[in-house]
Amino acid sequence: MMTVFIDRIIPQIGLDLLKKAGISYEQHTENRELAPEELIERCKQHDALLSAGWGPLDQSFLNACKHLKVISLHSVGYDRVDVKTATKLKIPVGNTPDVLSEATADTAFLLMLTVSRKALYLHKKIIKGEWGFSQPIDDLGFSLNGKTLGVFGLGNIGFELAKKAKAAFNMPIIYHNRSTNEIAEKELGAKRVSFDELVKESDVLAAFSSLTAETKNKFNADIFSKMKSSAIFINASRGGVHNEDDLIAALNAKTIWGAGLDVTNPEPMKPDNPLLEMPNVAVFPHIGSATVEARDGMAKLAAENVIAALSGLKLPNIVNPEVYQ
Ligand code: DGY
Repeated sequence: MMTVFIDRIIPQIGLDLLKKAGISYEQHTENRELAPEELIERCKQHDALLSAGWGPLDQSFLNACKHLKVISLHSVGYDRVDVKTATKLKIPVGNTPDVLSEATADTAFLLMLTVSRKALYLHKKIIKGEWGFSQPIDDLGFSLNGKTLGVFGLGNIGFELAKKAKAAFNMPIIYHNRSTNEIAEKELGAKRVSFDELVKESDVLAAFSSLTAETKNKFNADIFSKMKSSAIFINASRGGVHNEDDLIAALNAKTIWGAGLDVTNPEPMKPDNPLLEMPNVAVFPHIGSATVEARDGMAKLAAENVIAALSGLKLPNIVNPEVYQ
């Protein structure tokens, strides 16, 4: 019987699918990330890895686990895997696209609104016993109505956010992509612009690109200095896409107005991070896909990838299709 190691507790729907397919599994159920050498030891006893963890699946892991018939990620992002090495070793890597797009876009929408109204900061004031006398000019946010949303990386998640922003606040949409997003242009009147224009014209600038060598630290001091001083920066992709020190400096210097982050660098963020005390900032602990619906969808796709691989079939959702060439 083929077996899979699962490095987190995943929704039951994924486990049921595996059982139904006759695949047995071992699940790591402790509330801690396995150390790299522990993960290797566990994987050595199995044919496949279904991974919802956060540690790197790098060259040393892959070389020690060459026997794996699949690495099935319980995520759409795959920056933690050395895909080049996996491909060289003929290990297919699967991910879970689409099923979390709406939940992640909702998170970005929530960040945008939370920041524009300083909601988390004001909530914390109540907890601290600071809800006292206030003047009509105190702690004002701003309306999102008619403000321009700029999307860096208008794929499925960016498109979902753009739809919501257009419907709720009639926000004009601009975006920067390598290729044109025909549907967004047709349905939302979205306009593809240069990166420079995106940075200069956005009132809310939301980053949804995956983390690559090209996008690492993309939003840095230089870029923040070109943004409107009234703009909000949103990141719901990967923390490495922005430079955290530069962001803190830009907010302190009022180079930009605010920031909403669902991802930080590193994760978890330290509780004494100055961002957490800033009025115009909201930080969430990477909850983009944290709805029952999205997580069920992810567990289902991740299990289907394992089942396909262990049945000698191609993965339905694969990151490195070259593996089959
Ligand atoms: C993903 O799927 O990449 C998300 O960031 C995990 O929640």
